[in-house]
Amino acid sequence: MCGIVGYIGKQQAAPILLEGLKKLEYRGYDSAGVAVRDGAKSIQVVKAKGKLSVLAQKTEDGKALYGTCGIGHTRWATHGEPDERNAHPHRSTDGSVAVVHNGILENYRELREELKDCGYTFASQTDTEVIANLIDFYLKRDRKGAAEAISRFMERARGSYAIAVMFEEFAGELYLARKDSPMIVGEGEGEMFVASDAAAILRHTRKVYFVDDFTLACVRADGVRFFDISGNPIPKEYQLLDIDAEAAGKGGYEHFMRKEIYEQPRAVSDTLSHYIKEGDIDLGISLHGVKQITVVACGSAYHVGVTLQYAIEKLARIPVRVELASEFRYRDPILGEGTLVVAVSQSGETADTLAAVREAKKRGARTLGIVNVLGSSVAREADDVLYTYAGPEIAVATTKAYSAQLALGYLVALVLGKNNKTLSEEQFARYVSALQELPSKIEETLRSESEIKAFAARHADVHDVFMIGRGIDYAVCMEGALKLKEVSYVHTEAYAAGELKHGTISLVEEGTLVLGVLTQSGVFEKTASNLEETSSRGAIVATVGTKKLCEGQFFPIPETEEPFAASLAVLPLQLLAYHISVCRGLDVDKPRNLAKSVTVE
Ligand code: G6P
Repeated sequence: MCGIVGYIGKQQAAPILLEGLKKLEYRGYDSAGVAVRDGAKSIQVVKAKGKLSVLAQKTEDGKALYGTCGIGHTRWATHGEPDERNAHPHRSTDGSVAVVHNGILENYRELREELKDCGYTFASQTDTEVIANLIDFYLKRDRKGAAEAISRFMERARGSYAIAVMFEEFAGELYLARKDSPMIVGEGEGEMFVASDAAAILRHTRKVYFVDDFTLACVRADGVRFFDISGNPIPKEYQLLDIDAEAAGKGGYEHFMRKEIYEQPRAVSDTLSHYIKEGDIDLGISLHGVKQITVVACGSAYHVGVTLQYAIEKLARIPVRVELASEFRYRDPILGEGTLVVAVSQSGETADTLAAVREAKKRGARTLGIVNVLGSSVAREADDVLYTYAGPEIAVATTKAYSAQLALGYLVALVLGKNNKTLSEEQFARYVSALQELPSKIEETLRSESEIKAFAARHADVHDVFMIGRGIDYAVCMEGALKLKEVSYVHTEAYAAGELKHGTISLVEEGTLVLGVLTQSGVFEKTASNLEETSSRGAIVATVGTKKLCEGQFFPIPETEEPFAASLAVLPLQLLAYHISVCRGLDVDKPRNLAKSVTVE
């Protein structure tokens, strides 16, 4: 949530900051700002409401701002409405400290009152302005330097933060601090970069340092030094990031979402081939002794968990519970012996998922992260990590990361089934080869885009949609409904097909669109009858599945082993959401009010 970029070196900072922010815009996009300084001259701050293009225009793509040191921010509003006043960077009352911040300072109200009593004034409604003033307060009171003042702030702060700070007094230096919000420092030749996400600086360097929790950093053009909160130096090695910077471009597609939908065969095949070796699965970790599983995740990653619940229970006969990470962390969960807590997260930075991992560890459970972003917080904090190889995902609505998570989850299910001997060698081999066929079947399914596009055009003004299915098909509906809601703003609900009659069917009327997902042969007829019940009440009915069992539009998908059918059935629903959004003229890649990575509660 929100993005931070910083630069210090010999080049002009502002264009580099803007270019980096562009790569982070998917994390928040309601306002943006930069602070730049030229040598020992004063810090200049420019901010703008709206998308980054407004700030770019205002600064002539950064050319209007002169200076080789600066910080920038793209915001997703938490405290205070998304206007210019609340945009970052924020300055202390006398302007001598400028701060950009990701996260939420929970005790900002009480700190603000204290600071007001000391004569500080506040121009915005943000918690970040409190940070700028608090650091300024300690700097002036103690006169022990910038790092010391930031340490004092860290001692007082409750909540989460990644901050980058510039001081009028200390030209040639940028200061950073973090707790529960990611931050990295990139090293170049005589220049250094700062970012909340590697995507912002990959064009310049792959040599990065991960800033740890409760750590401070002082960045100068010739290097970075890390300190703990007591001022002790922390030695740190850089890591070389192996991420394809080009993969972060649109590559000729009109939108990232469509590009990423079409990258799914590769995302799934890269993920599978990383772990499947000569017909066997090598996860590189042992899953022996797992007696039950709790999946914790948010959003689409939670839907992956719901699908895996069916797949793991069927293939490995291990009980699986799936919990929204935001609920799990406050629920006093019971984690019996042999419980594996699996955190599924594309970014590895979702605040609730990370907190759930910490909670599970605190309670003595073994934790496993299924994560896409290398070196992210969940990846580093879980006892074990299995990476998906989806590549950078930019569209806010996930598609390829979801598919890669499913694929990796199936591998976990098969390994558990093999360990538990619930799968014979032949069954195991059959399932593995079915997985290897998934990428080409995904490709085949995507070929029906033109029919989906035409259907989307006919129904772009629909008001209410229900997606119904049973078992895995219900899990697919949950994901399909979220996609349609988030990018098209169409009210959509996923329903377990058998549950519709218990109240919700009263909402079905002439023109309601009811989409059935039918891939699980044991319940084909049941779901088909539930669809009939809605069409006889005036609903427009359509189905996604392996067999046409109902009247109305049919989107066929290829046959696969039934536990893996979600990977194919979700595709027409992704495309439908995409095309309805395009037809309605909406911002597909950056839907209103959303951010890709939710790093606050
Ligand atoms: C946000 C995104 C979703 C994503 C969810 C969890 O809400 O818009 O697409 O599924 O966060 O994100 P994670 O990075 O933990 O998978």
